[in-house]
Amino acid sequence: MNTIKIAIDGYAGTGKSTTARMVAKKLDYTYIDTGAMYRAVTLYFLDHNIPFEELNEQLIGALADIRLNFKPNENGDLCMFLNGKNVANEIRHPRISAHVSPVAVHGPVREKLVNEQRIMGKEGGIVMDGRDIGTVVFPDAELKIFMTASMDVRAARRQAELEAKGNIMSLEAIRDNLAERDHIDANRAIAPLKKAADAVVIDTSEMTFEDQVSLVCKMVENKLKQLSS
Ligand code: CDP
Repeated sequence: MNTIKIAIDGYAGTGKSTTARMVAKKLDYTYIDTGAMYRAVTLYFLDHNIPFEELNEQLIGALADIRLNFKPNENGDLCMFLNGKNVANEIRHPRISAHVSPVAVHGPVREKLVNEQRIMGKEGGIVMDGRDIGTVVFPDAELKIFMTASMDVRAARRQAELEAKGNIMSLEAIRDNLAERDHIDANRAIAPLKKAADAVVIDTSEMTFEDQVSLVCKMVENKLKQLSS
């Protein structure tokens, strides 16, 4: 067996997505950013004035009109397309970060996205990151990682990412958003953010990006050896 499923879960801003994307590239696996899917649904609700604070019929009906795909852009990077439009940049905007966790609590939203994620990953050869990948989407994933980092490190990293895209936000505002999302994500009734019993914890507070990628690649190598022996 040489194409496994790798599940990377953890808190916001711990480096899951950047690590997962690079690991997938090195292994020639497919990278699936499930957070991008929840963000794209949030963008659709905001742009179409769909109320999402409470579960309602309008929200459930709107889900049928939302088509999500990952497609490569001109550089070959997989980008989130919402109903045929590349929304990769728009979904990273603070306006989406401010609303995505209340959207992600709803059962019908999660059901739609989890079904799509299972289809995308069923053949293996994937690195999928999110909040419930090792616990709900792929409890059978061969390698599960749970990433953490200190709040200061997470906020500083997120600030740099936002700045690179031209969004200036204070550390305090970023910290508030990360803490609020952690709270909602970890305490929701359906598929809360938690470490799978068989996940390995990586604290990235003191690690460089290169350290994180090489550690995960080493873990994959070990797992593949173990599976083939
Ligand atoms: O990149 P960042 O860590 O800020 O977050 P993200 O991975 O883009 O996820 C955004 C939000 O989507 C999370 O705060 C969760 O509310 C939700 N999410 C989820 O509920 N389940 C997932 N598998 C992935 C994301």
